[in-house]
Formats: sequence, structure tokens, C-alpha cells
Amino acid sequence: MKKKFLEIITIVGLLFTLLPFGTANAANSKTSSSDQSLAKIQKKGVLVMGTSPDYAPYEFQTTKNGKSVDVGMDISIAKQIAKDLGVKLKIKNMDFDSLLVALQTGKVDMVMAGMNPTAARRKNVTFSNIYYQGGQDIVINKKDAGIYKSKKSFVGKTLGAQTGTMQYNMAKKQISNVTVKGFDKGADLILALQTNKIDGIVMEKPSAEAYVKNNPQLSLINGNFNLNTNETSSAIAFQKGATSLAGAVNKSLAKIKKKDLINKVYLKEAGTHMKTNTVNTSMTHYWKYFAKGIGYTLLISAFSVFFGFILGTILAFMRLSRNKLLKLVSTAYIEFVRGTPLMVQIMFVYFGIGLIVNLPALTSGIIAVSLNSGAYVAEVIRGGINSVDKGQTEAARSLGLSKKGTMRYVVLPQAIKNIWPALGNEFISLIKESSIVSIIGVTDLIYQLKIVQSDTYRGVAPIVVAMLLYFVVTFGLSKILAYFEGRMKHAN
Ligand code: ARG
Repeated sequence: MKKKFLEIITIVGLLFTLLPFGTANAANSKTSSSDQSLAKIQKKGVLVMGTSPDYAPYEFQTTKNGKSVDVGMDISIAKQIAKDLGVKLKIKNMDFDSLLVALQTGKVDMVMAGMNPTAARRKNVTFSNIYYQGGQDIVINKKDAGIYKSKKSFVGKTLGAQTGTMQYNMAKKQISNVTVKGFDKGADLILALQTNKIDGIVMEKPSAEAYVKNNPQLSLINGNFNLNTNETSSAIAFQKGATSLAGAVNKSLAKIKKKDLINKVYLKEAGTHMKTNTVNTSMTHYWKYFAKGIGYTLLISAFSVFFGFILGTILAFMRLSRNKLLKLVSTAYIEFVRGTPLMVQIMFVYFGIGLIVNLPALTSGIIAVSLNSGAYVAEVIRGGINSVDKGQTEAARSLGLSKKGTMRYVVLPQAIKNIWPALGNEFISLIKESSIVSIIGVTDLIYQLKIVQSDTYRGVAPIVVAMLLYFVVTFGLSKILAYFEGRMKHAN
């Protein structure tokens, strides 16, 4: 009873130590009247832009000399802005719904992603002037053209929209009795539509036009949504109060508008990229994307298994020790980590810890996955050690072997045989589970799969390729592990 109580106290204590991360954010977004945002960028010499390149013609990816590059009108505008500010442009890619969090936690200096400066967003960030007017449409399967005429036709039906977007909220609000499903990427939405998971997609007009132009099975209807200017236009988001930066950017935007660069140059360029994108959509053409993805997946898993093993060993011995405090800390850690989803832990490390030290996405991913794996490995090791019969320890001790010696020469060699296969399983599940790091923009296999989807406008083929690659890697690994397991048995 007392033990349980202590355990609860430790967990509550742990939660309270984590709490300041949440409040630090609120303090961060309040900037003083003497705004340093512009001076800071000029001093750094780089302007970091956050975006989600799944939104042609605003931002999307194309292949140049075997490398994926970000293109689109937002990118062209951002390049001009950086040039005007006399700094370099750095682009950070992530899911759309992570962008404003990244902005508020200082991962990026501005967000440019075809973002509508809605009233709700204006409360939390500072927007530039409007640089483009789009409008909202609904994409449907061509075969359904007779059924769906406007937003009214979707009463009681299912619509799709990108998660965290204004379109998602708008569809919910303006159509009665409609189900709105959220997806992360444009390509997922198209796939859902074509496989009849949803009846239509609410999409910004230029994007909708891009998809329809590239896919003869789709067509477009005017949504007839009630919209104010904010909801049909795009603006650039900055941290709340970053007025000097926003002011300098507005000057660039005014220049761009005056020369009508968006319509005359940027959108035309985007159009040519979209054409070259769909010339060769065979999966072999994209092998480099997949190779890069699997490389990162293996890298993250290997590092995480290594660090997870060290951490797990320490935690296991702490939990097995007689020292109450060590035992308690280790138990609390293990329970806490196993009781929260890896996805939340990854976001916490990247965005939460990121408030204190600004870690790159890959490092954050490795740290989060290692911390997570440590808890599971600890239990594997503890289980392995506990599985060695007590009589063994007693016999060794009575023969005069020290406590350390007993552990080292008697218990551990036997425990290893139980630990090894379980550890192998842990490695294999890490390879699969590490796929969640894609949400913070680590270019692992899942991330690359989504890029190939939006690049080729093909839904299923990239999934099949990724699935096969995961299988080949995990199956190969389990064969290798089994080989060593067999050798260990013979050594018996
Ligand atoms: N305009 C919509 C919004 O602000 C969606 C933008 C999505 N952008 C993207 N790059 N995926 O909510």
C-alpha cells in the first residue's frame, strides 16, 4: 500500500516537473514593445520558413537531378523576400497542422503555406498583408458529377479536408449533418476520394484545379461557401508581435504585387513543375526517395536501439536494486513512458524540450524513440534476469561467489539467452514504430512515401513499395537475429 502511494507521488511529481514547458510557451509569445524580430533575422543571416509541400501550386516538391526540391509560388515569394532582407532562405517541411506550433516554439521564423489569415489564427500569430486570393472548391469523382452540384448536395454525406485547415472547419460549420474526415496530406485525400471513403474534398481553388488537371477521373465544383476575405486569401504568419519582420516582408510583398510577379511568373513556373512531375510516375523512377527514406528509418532505429539498450540496462538494474529510491524512479519512468503514446512523446521532445534547447527534428526523433525504447528494454532485461532460477543465485553464493560475480558469471549468461530474442523483437518493432517521426518532418520512409504520393498523384503504389521495403528489412533482420540465437544455443 505504502509502495503504491509512493509510486503515485513520484508520477505526479514527474508531471509537475513537465508542466513548466506548457507555460513557457505562453510567456514566449508575448513580445515586448521593442520588437527585435527583424534585427534577429538579419543578425542570423537566415530566414527559416515552415511549410507543408503538399499543396500545389502553392508549395510542392519536384525532382531535380535526382534530388527533391521545394517549388511553388509560396517558395518563389519567400525567395524574393529573403533576397530583399539580404538573408538566406531555409525551408523546413512538416505536416500542416504542426506549422503554427513550430512557429510559436521558435522552430521557424515564418509560416508560408497557403494559409488563410482567419480570425482565430489572428489571435495567436501576426499576419503579413494578403498576397493571394484563392477561393474554396469541392473536388469530386467525375462519375458523380450528376449527383453533387454545390455544398448543399453534401448534407448527410462525407467530405474530406486537410487536418488543421480552415477548409475542415468551414465544411463542418456550413453544411448541416455532414461528416468531415481529416487527412494529413493532399495525396491521402485524393486516394480516399477515389476509393470512395469520402464523397468530396474541400480544397482551395488553385490546389483543386491542380489535382483535377493532373487526374482525368476527378472534377471540380464551386462550393458556394459563405466566405469573408480572410477565408479566401493567403498571408504569411509570424510570431505574435513580430511587427518589424512583418513590416519588412510587407514591403517585399508590395513590390511583388506591383510587378504582378505571382500571376506573371511564379504561377507559370509552378505549372511547368507540375507538368514535369507527372511525366514519369513509375515507382522505379522514385527509387532514390525510397532509398533515402529507408536509410533514415534504419538510422533512427539503430541509434535508438543502441541508446535504448544502455538506458534500459540502467533502468532494469535500478528497478531490481534494493535501494527504494532508485527502484521508485525507474518504475515511475517505465510506467509513465509505457502509459503514453510514442507520438505524443515525439511531439513533446521536439516542441516541448525544444523551447529550452532547439533540437533538429532528426535528433529529437532519435532522443524520443530512445527514451521510449529504454522503458521497454528495461522490462525485457528485468524479465530475463528474473527468469533465471533463484536456486542458481543461492548455489553460487553458497559456493562463495560475490554478489557481483554471481550476476556476471552465473545469472547474466543465462539471462542473455532470454533477453536476446526479446531484444531482437524490440529492434524490429522500433523499425516499424519509428515511422511516427515523420510528423515532425524527419524524412523517414513514411515521410518519403507521402512525398512520392503527392509528387506522382498516385495513391496506392507508393504504399505497396513502402510496405515491401519494411517487410524486407524486418524479415531480413529477424533471420539474422535467429541465426545468432541458434549459435547461442549451440554454445550451451
Ligand atoms: N488554406 C488552408 C488553411 O489555411 C489550407 C492550407 C494548407 N496548406 C498546405 N501547405 N498544406 O487552413
